[in-house]
Amino acid sequence: MTGPDHILIQVQDVWKAFDDNEVLKGISLRVHDGSSDVILGRSGIGKSVLLKSIVGLLTPERGSITVMDEEVIGMKNRDLNRLRKQIGYVFQYAALYDSLTVRENLEFPLRKHTDADEEEISDRVFEQLKLVGLEDAIDKMPSELSGGMKKRIGLARAIIKRPRIVLYDEPTAGLDPITAREISDLILSLEEQFGITSITVTHDLECARIIANRIYILDDGLFQHQGSYDELKASTDPYTKAFFQVTR
Ligand SMILES: Nc1ncnc2c1ncn2[C@@H]1O[C@H](COP(=O)(O)OP(=O)(O)O)[C@@H](O)[C@H]1O
Ligand SMILES: [Mg+2]
Repeated sequence: MTGPDHILIQVQDVWKAFDDNEVLKGISLRVHDGSSDVILGRSGIGKSVLLKSIVGLLTPERGSITVMDEEVIGMKNRDLNRLRKQIGYVFQYAALYDSLTVRENLEFPLRKHTDADEEEISDRVFEQLKLVGLEDAIDKMPSELSGGMKKRIGLARAIIKRPRIVLYDEPTAGLDPITAREISDLILSLEEQFGITSITVTHDLECARIIANRIYILDDGLFQHQGSYDELKASTDPYTKAFFQVTR
């Protein structure tokens, strides 16, 4: 099933603690097909823990997480790997393999997750680099790239297997405002081109403004507020206001 009425990711009453550190306290989220949802929250509040739980890298103690109608919590590794083929993940720290060239970094998910032959792999890598405007970087090593270029390659790698869902963990962190904005614009344009459904966690308000259909504010283990950018910007809630006052 497809279309905006379909829920692609559903998080229901999810609890996750590390010893006595209660991080997620009964959190729920429904991501509709084709939507770009953004989760805002300060550092250490549980944004990455939530994303990792959605792809089964962490296992919550309670609750339910369904991705494309399949329960992720308790899923066998074999099934998780199958599911992950349809999910792109942009890691918080541009996790390129430092010892591999840009080309090899991009080939990696295709070799691991698809049956593409050498010609298809080569074509796809070049096509991806063109999409993110970095054809010339194909034979470079990650150490030769700027922060913004690394993020572009990270985006290219996340969508190279044409996933239906992409999870972005702080895609603009560590970038200057101009480069950050270019990355946000690129995310929006790739999502529109490929009909990607996404969750982005960030504390970059400009990124949220550019890409979000809906914004959720995470604090104390739960989404305390949600709405469009304009709705939240006009909010009188002190925490939301504090968040939005930082920039505009
Ligand atoms: N694997 C782990 N083991 C123990 N504690 C963790 C682990 N991952 C995250 N945490 C803790 O969970 C809390 C939320 O972390 P995280 O989701 O990474 O925050 P952020 O919102 O900055 O992404 C933090 O207190 C962090 O120390
Ligand atoms: Mg994080």
